[in-house]
Amino acid sequence: MMDVRMLAARICWRLLVLSSLLLQRARGSMLDCPPTCSCSPTEIHCTKSDSGNFFPLLALQDTGSSGNSSNDIEELFKNISTIHIENWTGLQVLRDVDMELYTGLERLTIMNCNLRAIQARAFAQNPHLRYINLSKNPLTTLSWQLFQNLQLSELRLEGILFECGCEIRWIQLWQQRTLSSLNKQNLYCKRGGSRIPLRSMNIPHCDLPDIRVSHNTLTVVEGDNVTVSCNGSGAPLPEVDWTVGALQSINTHLSNVYPPNIHSINLTLVNISHEDNNFTLTCISENMVGMTNASIQLSVQFPPSIWKLEEPEHRHETCIEFTVRGNPRPTLRWFHNDKEIFQSNYVRTELENYKDFVEGCLNFKNPTHYNNGNYTLVASNPLGSTSKTVFGHFLEAPFPEDEDQEYGIPTPPDDVANIPEEDSFGVSIAVGLAGFACVLLIVLFVLINKYGRRSKFGMKGPVAVISGEEDSASPLHHVNHGIITPCTLDAGPDAVVIGMSRIPVIENPQYFRHGHNCNKPTTYVQHIKRRDIILKRELGEGAFGKVFLAECYNLSPTKDKTLVAVKTLKDPTLAARKDFQREAELLTNLQHEHIVKFYGVCVDGDPLIMVFEYMKHGDLNKFLRAHGPDAMILVDGQPLQTSGELGLSQMLHVASQIASGMVYLALQHFVHRDLATRNCLVGNGLLVKIGDFGMSRDIYSTDYYRVGGHTMLPIRWMPPESIMYRKFTTESDVWSFGVIMWEIFTYGKQPWFQLANNEVIECITQGRVLDRPRLCPKEVYDVMLGCWQQEPQQRLSIKEIQNILFALGKATPVYLDILG
Ligand SMILES: *[C@@H]1O[C@H](CO)[C@@H](O)[C@H](O)[C@H]1NC(C)=O
Ligand SMILES: *[C@@H]1O[C@H](CO)[C@@H](O)[C@H](O)[C@H]1NC(C)=O
Ligand SMILES: *[C@@H]1O[C@H](CO)[C@@H](O)[C@H](O)[C@H]1NC(C)=O
Ligand SMILES: *[C@@H]1O[C@H](CO)[C@@H](O)[C@H](O)[C@H]1NC(C)=O
Ligand SMILES: *[C@@H]1O[C@H](CO)[C@@H](O)[C@H](O)[C@H]1NC(C)=O
Ligand SMILES: *[C@@H]1O[C@H](CO)[C@@H](O)[C@H](O)[C@H]1NC(C)=O
Ligand SMILES: *[C@@H]1O[C@H](CO)[C@@H](O)[C@H](O)[C@H]1NC(C)=O
Ligand SMILES: *[C@@H]1O[C@H](CO)[C@@H](O)[C@H](O)[C@H]1NC(C)=O
Ligand SMILES: *[C@@H]1O[C@H](CO)[C@@H](O)[C@H](O)[C@H]1NC(C)=O
Ligand SMILES: *[C@@H]1O[C@H](CO)[C@@H](O)[C@H](O)[C@H]1NC(C)=O
Ligand SMILES: *[C@@H]1O[C@H](CO)[C@@H](O)[C@H](O)[C@H]1NC(C)=O
Repeated sequence: MMDVRMLAARICWRLLVLSSLLLQRARGSMLDCPPTCSCSPTEIHCTKSDSGNFFPLLALQDTGSSGNSSNDIEELFKNISTIHIENWTGLQVLRDVDMELYTGLERLTIMNCNLRAIQARAFAQNPHLRYINLSKNPLTTLSWQLFQNLQLSELRLEGILFECGCEIRWIQLWQQRTLSSLNKQNLYCKRGGSRIPLRSMNIPHCDLPDIRVSHNTLTVVEGDNVTVSCNGSGAPLPEVDWTVGALQSINTHLSNVYPPNIHSINLTLVNISHEDNNFTLTCISENMVGMTNASIQLSVQFPPSIWKLEEPEHRHETCIEFTVRGNPRPTLRWFHNDKEIFQSNYVRTELENYKDFVEGCLNFKNPTHYNNGNYTLVASNPLGSTSKTVFGHFLEAPFPEDEDQEYGIPTPPDDVANIPEEDSFGVSIAVGLAGFACVLLIVLFVLINKYGRRSKFGMKGPVAVISGEEDSASPLHHVNHGIITPCTLDAGPDAVVIGMSRIPVIENPQYFRHGHNCNKPTTYVQHIKRRDIILKRELGEGAFGKVFLAECYNLSPTKDKTLVAVKTLKDPTLAARKDFQREAELLTNLQHEHIVKFYGVCVDGDPLIMVFEYMKHGDLNKFLRAHGPDAMILVDGQPLQTSGELGLSQMLHVASQIASGMVYLALQHFVHRDLATRNCLVGNGLLVKIGDFGMSRDIYSTDYYRVGGHTMLPIRWMPPESIMYRKFTTESDVWSFGVIMWEIFTYGKQPWFQLANNEVIECITQGRVLDRPRLCPKEVYDVMLGCWQQEPQQRLSIKEIQNILFALGKATPVYLDILG
């Protein structure tokens, strides 16, 4: 009867709010403060006395806004965090409808009103309540259940004279347990005509219930039936219940009372589902004094099942992803074409356990076509076993056996040494030792990469703005710090480990792995066998190692042997090996007719080797000096046989070739940072390419300004923003190109040769530029000036420069005439 009335009241109230909403809808609405209250968006204060017998509710008011009214109104109510009502003599009952819209309420004070009762679910919609002040109201009792879902930090009940009795025993207990600051309050209750302190109230047969459950933990097998029981005992006689809302298995409850004071309840689970594994069955027992609970941890055993087994996917490494469920935790075995796979550095599983889920990856490090095939996962536990197979396709065989003839590559019979099985032929002790060393290195390398990575790169990145890596081994020797595709830089964990015997050896450098998640396909660096390289003579030596002229066999399908320049990396540290690998990958990706051709690496043994095309005339700076007016004096003090001075058209030809290479680099978003004639190479027929052998910093050390221990900056080639802020961009490369042109037209003079490094820095940062070389036509100097604009964005683009040089090149005969 009571319930029906409450329901009616609630519906009524809802209708009221909604109908007023509807009325206001067109103009949008806002809530207005009750007449005797003062309101802010977060607080309602009703301290003027009022005889109204309803809880203050915000009313609707037109605001002229056109918002979504039903949303707005909820939010308005929700934003109220404090309600303070004082001296409202008409307020006798606090109903749940009064409170239910104030869902964000944190502080409630109803003080010195006429409050006599609070409905059981009054605070059910106010989970954020922290502070409740009900002082000085004529309440006679109060139930703990009102507050059972709240985390009250303070409940103020002073000035309430309760009826002594078991109903308020909980307040006494909370005082004893110092809950909700009740212990600090002086509370009283009346028995008969006298007022006694609550602390000294003594009620017999009035205590918290006891609870007992039949098990602590319960292990069952999927499909079983099981019954658990729970006894709540005490006085007053408690209610008991199992809270099994989220339980999947069919369950039935059966309760019974064993007089005088035991209330028992049995829970029967039928055909237990594995979804209920690790479910916590909680039984609660409550009476007017309070609630106690006890739990049973359920463990449901079931045979393994494979939920997921995906085809290989490239992530961090290449991964066959799987999810297996089972309890007890299944053991996993992997088979590749029916042969069991054992963990190694190249293939290993990575697991994560969550409840009865086992999720993970079968990881492949640099898989090759040898890894193609059927992968079978077998999962077993004492209850059973299951298996599933997925086909893993990683790579095509790079050279299907009969294709060799098509390409006309002579293949010596032992040329298949890349197949691991072949290694077992004629193993000498030396090879064995080398192999052992190799394995040791790999292990070290992997460990250091795994544990030492962050610090290593964290330290290096910002410091070596311009590469201070003297041991860098490539012609584009700071590539490892260059702004290059994220793919290459992130390639860390995917990178082929140098010195590993199972490097995926792909004879065709154009061959890329599929399914890479980055735009750029992963690069396979070509590997050249050591026995195919025959050193002829030393070309030079840098801090990183030596450069040799060599003959390389089997490099090109049309030629038996090719002259190459090989750079050796002596005593490589692990970091140097890593950089070596990255540079090799980068170089493999940088292929252009005006970038020095990179053939590949040779890593079977020490030292590590990079193989480049041989550029007969060496670096461009030396070449310019050798073909200038001062040739006799300048080149190594040796009277050098010159083929005459370079003419204007040849100079333009040299410059436009470098520009062409730079256009390509810019398109690749590659910032070179050290463009200079010393870092270009000259081949037959005045062919010029960008690239060097990393010896510049040794041979041309005066071109660099050493800052700190390792960083050497080519300040004479750097624009102001690079000098001041270490900012290197395509535009700063353009500045350097202007300096290259100046070098060309001065036959290889050092820029600002008359100035010391600190004076050069001052000059450049003050905006001075190099003077026009004696032999340089104005049109050409204008291009240089276009490169040396102070503002990077005002500089000519490298593409524009290329076009201008091309046009000038066509017109050179005229200029030659003018120059006489
Ligand atoms: C409420 O009424 C009491 C007297 O009953 C008075 O002393 C008190 O100041 C009033 N409170 C407010 C905020 O007006
Ligand atoms: C108002 O909000 C409700 C609930 O989010 C939504 O269903 C309704 O489409 C909205 N009405 C307008 C006019 O935005
Ligand atoms: C409620 O409060 C939030 C942030 O406190 C505010 O962004 C929002 O506008 C308020 N809503 C109303 C209707 O006042
Ligand atoms: C809450 O009640 C106490 C009496 O227990 C009173 O002294 C106090 O001022 C009230 N606090 C607020 C914030 O109304
Ligand atoms: C519950 O009480 C009954 C009756 O005293 C008893 O037989 C049963 O063993 C009790 N169960 C538990 C779990 O304590
Ligand atoms: C479980 O109970 C159901 C119905 O009560 C019954 O049909 C089934 O055979 C029982 N299963 C076991 C394993 O006892
Ligand atoms: C609960 O189960 C126990 C055995 O598990 C049984 O002895 C008891 O009678 C059952 N109680 C009820 C109320 O069914
Ligand atoms: C038990 O549950 C499984 C699925 O959870 C169902 O396939 C099976 O038929 C059920 N067995 C009985 C006896 O109800
Ligand atoms: C069980 O009791 C503890 C404290 O006695 C309480 O923190 C927990 O929330 C209760 N669990 C349930 C499900 O009521
Ligand atoms: C089972 O659940 C409990 C918490 O309910 C958790 O602490 C425990 O780690 C879980 N066990 C497993 C095996 O996931
Ligand atoms: C892989 O399995 C499929 C079908 O299960 C079979 O046709 C194929 O021959 C298997 N491949 C290998 C390499 O075993």
